[in-house]
Amino acid sequence: MKQDMIVVLDMGSTRNTDVARAIRSLGVYSEICNFDVTADELNAMPNVRGVVANGGPNDVVDGKKIALSEEVKKSGLPVYTFDYAENGRMNKMPESDQEIAEALRSFVFDTCKAAANWNMENFIADQVELMRRRIGDKKVLLALSGGVDSSVVAALLLKAVGEQLTCVHVNHGLLRKGEPEQVVKVFKDEMKANLVYVDATDRFLNKLAGVADPEQKRKIIGAEFIRVFEEEARKLDGIEFLAQGTIYPDIVESGTKTAKMVKSHHNVGGLPEDLQFALVEPLKMLFKDEVRACGVALGLPDAMVYRQPFPGPGLGVRCLGAITRDRLEALRESDAILREEFAANGLEGKVWQYFTVVPDFKSVGVRDNARCYDWPVIIRAVNTVDAMTAEVPEIPFAILRKITDRILSEVKGINRVCFDLSPKPTATIEWE
Ligand code: XMP
Repeated sequence: MKQDMIVVLDMGSTRNTDVARAIRSLGVYSEICNFDVTADELNAMPNVRGVVANGGPNDVVDGKKIALSEEVKKSGLPVYTFDYAENGRMNKMPESDQEIAEALRSFVFDTCKAAANWNMENFIADQVELMRRRIGDKKVLLALSGGVDSSVVAALLLKAVGEQLTCVHVNHGLLRKGEPEQVVKVFKDEMKANLVYVDATDRFLNKLAGVADPEQKRKIIGAEFIRVFEEEARKLDGIEFLAQGTIYPDIVESGTKTAKMVKSHHNVGGLPEDLQFALVEPLKMLFKDEVRACGVALGLPDAMVYRQPFPGPGLGVRCLGAITRDRLEALRESDAILREEFAANGLEGKVWQYFTVVPDFKSVGVRDNARCYDWPVIIRAVNTVDAMTAEVPEIPFAILRKITDRILSEVKGINRVCFDLSPKPTATIEWE
């Protein structure tokens, strides 16, 4: 293995990821570990050089205050401690990642003698070696949505086990314009992956016909996705491993023993338990920006690596109420125009998420000197850090006017364009 590692010991801090990121920013790999890790477990981790014990407000577990365990001391590794004051404030930990890194620099390099060898080339080399060892000559299955995480997993596995990987891309008919084609072009045509492409559009739209309730729609899409994927999986022989695009925040947010906040992540790739596979999760120690860097290093196209977030239920939650094919088509075309114009006007990397919405009501308009009664398109554009709150950025009026003109002249069945000015809260980012 190529990378040295510093372990961040979770002793109840809310800032474990800040510390891990700060250490990684020094060029040294870091992972978060529970306070009750044993000496044997610590010493079994490859190239571990030291421990940062990270105290914090959640330092009571089962009624007992967490203290540095004898096990950690027994491991013989150097330990640095961030203390936590009784008054509820950190008395030693600085605010920014940069300052935390500076505070730890001498410990990491002088005391632990860690080498600054954390980079994507080494990460990829290590993961490829680990996966080859683990998978041997067995077969692996991956649900490839075309999102950043599953695409990077596919590229990594192709490098590691090539033909032993089978990717299944389920097109539920609710993807954006050009997306299924891009997945096929990049993975099947260019990277020569075994790719099973399933066009399940009719199946999904039939299931969704007449269903107007947003939660019901989400449930149907999620359940149907699993059913289709499961059917495809059962057709394949001898699969022993299932690869998933789990990333570090998914694991950290689901809660270590001391964490108070538990957030359930729903992933449309979640599978029933009777399909028994061993999991391969090569990105589970990476933060989102690191996943993108990994994708770039593996040669994936920018459009895939820097793809904006897209909900699992896709356009299904943007075609409001009961989905109809004509409104879905209007949604897909208007969304493509919005994305094209944002890219052409330099807004692509500046606005976090932007899309269109088509509601299920009509309004009166006039076209070719005659009354028309058509659907509106709503433009949504937001900036956010964590998607928990969001604000609406100022979009130059000339760009909005150009997008409006194009939608009105190019998209069938639309006679009005609106811009949603609502922050989150009170609105959510998506409309359903
Ligand atoms: P809301 O609408 O709750 O969305 O403000 C916050 C962010 O989450 C995305 N989103 C989803 N992502 N599966 C996902 O993977 C989902 O079911 C889902 N629903 C919403 C949304 O696009 C926004 O970025």
